Amino acid sequence: MDDLSYQSGYGNTFSSEALPGSLPATQNSPLLCPNSLYAEQISGTSFTSPRNLNLRSWLYRIKPSVTHEPFKPRVKGKSFLLSEFNQCNSSATPTQLRWKPIDIPSSPTDFIDGLFTVCGAGSSFLRHGFAIHMYTANKSMENSAFCSADGDFLVVPQKGTLDDDQIQQGLWITTECGRLQVSPGEIAVLPQGFRFSVDLPDGPSRGYVAEIFGTHFQLPDLGPIGANGLAAPRDFLAPTAWFDESHRPGYTIVQKFGGELFTAKQDFSPFNVVAWHGNYVPYKYDLSKFCPYNTVLFDHSDPSINTVLTAPTDKPGVALLDFVIFPPRWLVAEHTFRPPYYHRNCMSEFMGLIHGGYEAKADGFLPGGSSLHSCMTPHGPDTKTYEATIARGNEAGPFRIKDTMAFMFESCLIPRVCSWALESPFMDHDYYQCWIGLRSHFKREGKDGDERNDIH
Ligand SMILES: [Fe+2]
Repeated sequence: MDDLSYQSGYGNTFSSEALPGSLPATQNSPLLCPNSLYAEQISGTSFTSPRNLNLRSWLYRIKPSVTHEPFKPRVKGKSFLLSEFNQCNSSATPTQLRWKPIDIPSSPTDFIDGLFTVCGAGSSFLRHGFAIHMYTANKSMENSAFCSADGDFLVVPQKGTLDDDQIQQGLWITTECGRLQVSPGEIAVLPQGFRFSVDLPDGPSRGYVAEIFGTHFQLPDLGPIGANGLAAPRDFLAPTAWFDESHRPGYTIVQKFGGELFTAKQDFSPFNVVAWHGNYVPYKYDLSKFCPYNTVLFDHSDPSINTVLTAPTDKPGVALLDFVIFPPRWLVAEHTFRPPYYHRNCMSEFMGLIHGGYEAKADGFLPGGSSLHSCMTPHGPDTKTYEATIARGNEAGPFRIKDTMAFMFESCLIPRVCSWALESPFMDHDYYQCWIGLRSHFKREGKDGDERNDIH
């Protein structure tokens, strides 16, 4: 995949052909397409969605997607995927939760087998909700493609630490629109319904996935920031057409539908799209291209200032799911507690760490780990961070946070947590301890300048 080319832009109407002349020039569905291809539309929104929200693409392929044997339930061990969250299959808890990085399995595991749901809310059937998954994989998908009929996948590959150096590599993702090479530090969005296959060119991979039901990601409005800043549209890259025309007996489509997996056999690769055009496309984005904005005098900005992508609800400013990052940046605020403030939020916050450390946790929050602070659950800097910040005092001077990339999936819905995540050996049962040491610094500062310490 070294020779990959991409098309740049967010929300563009793209067109691409792997063989020149394969796109119909004047219509979408001619009686006979150029090169005798089949025309197939994939709709990401209802036909009648307003034009500024309408997403669809036309794929010109060697054989249409419909050419397959019937779907059957996938029989391969216990499934750890959910797309509808209720009291029967998941738990609600206001407790702060944190997980250590999960191990790469020793047995052969591809992206599908290694995918499991951590938490989520709502229902893919009712087209309102989200699921947060994680994956570990140590082998490429073979003669198979995956597809979620439930929602868009936002995939965040994670990079290991030096003593965890087996996790350094990214993903090669083949989609119906072409191929994406996605390294740790980049993200990929694979919209609902698109078939894709994940290869691991250089070894094991671990990462996070946010799946959203019933809406799609978009760039956030910039408000008073102006016309530029945060994630620039031109840094989003869509693939160019690429196709596999070979005979592939026994090829398996694995379709996630209502949280369950189904398989169907066909004798060709679904990556047989010779040309396509439209605005419903997979894409990737390099998080190092994000242009952060932040406070330049005092106080700590709300994390929404670092929103890369947002999946909106019908309520203005209320996200089904925001993808927010905490990238390297300068801290310059004066007479300010610079780490994130102590917080209770009507939104729920799931965090992950792609690499490095996170400014609010001196230890315990590791690359590949995660945390969940649900609706109105208190959270904030750990004791070590608080004490170290106070000790530095008012004259801290400009400081550059470097070698880090943390992120947050933030939702207005309250997630329920899967039993296997709550019972996981990677659950950090001592998480609460990181705040237990926060002691009272309270002292009365009298008018005469006397200070009196209260009992601690
Ligand atoms: Fe928060």
